[in-house]
Amino acid sequence: MSRDQKFFDIYSLVIGILAAFALAILVLAMKISDLKQGVYTRDTAEYQAQVTARIRPLGQIYLPGEQTEASAPTIETAVEPKPVATALSGPQVYNSACLACHGAGIGGAPILGDAAAWAPRITQGADVLKDHAINGYTGQVGYMPAKGGRIDLSDEEVADAVEYMVSEAQ
Ligand code: HEC
Repeated sequence: MSRDQKFFDIYSLVIGILAAFALAILVLAMKISDLKQGVYTRDTAEYQAQVTARIRPLGQIYLPGEQTEASAPTIETAVEPKPVATALSGPQVYNSACLACHGAGIGGAPILGDAAAWAPRITQGADVLKDHAINGYTGQVGYMPAKGGRIDLSDEEVADAVEYMVSEAQ
């Protein structure tokens, strides 16, 4: 009986020590992971940014009069270009917007420098020619789109191009 008791005592002691050892390892592991994980993952700016991106609201509400930082410059750039844009000269406009048709006579367009084709048109007067070029028209040979399809051009730029085309035909 006393032998059994002795065995039991030692057995309990060993189990106790092992359990305490396991607990100590567990606590140590938790402590280390707490120290390291926090430093190397959760506290980094990259991780924080990702979390912020993940939990940000789907939409944002702007009240009248409010401007976002992102929308402010867009409004500026939308307003700015007009005065900044420098007017193109007649030949520049011709080359970028009119050459496609008037260079080769596409669709019956009077060819640049073809005096015979331009003579009857010039007799209509510069105002009619400019009006036809700016607003477009359908003539006897074909369709001349308004501003040659380049509605971004100003009336003056198209008028300058017409003057250039007329001067080339004389
Ligand atoms: C898509 C082809 C096309 C483009 C691009 C084009 N034209 Fe024309 N244009 C025509 C055609 C076709 C005519 C002849 C229409 C007719 O008289 O039947 C014409 C005629 C004209 C006439 C003569 C108008 C008249 O009353 O006789 C002028 C001026 C003219 N174009 C100016 C321009 C200018 C300036 C541009 C560039 C800004 C331009 N065109 C771009 C097709 C084009």
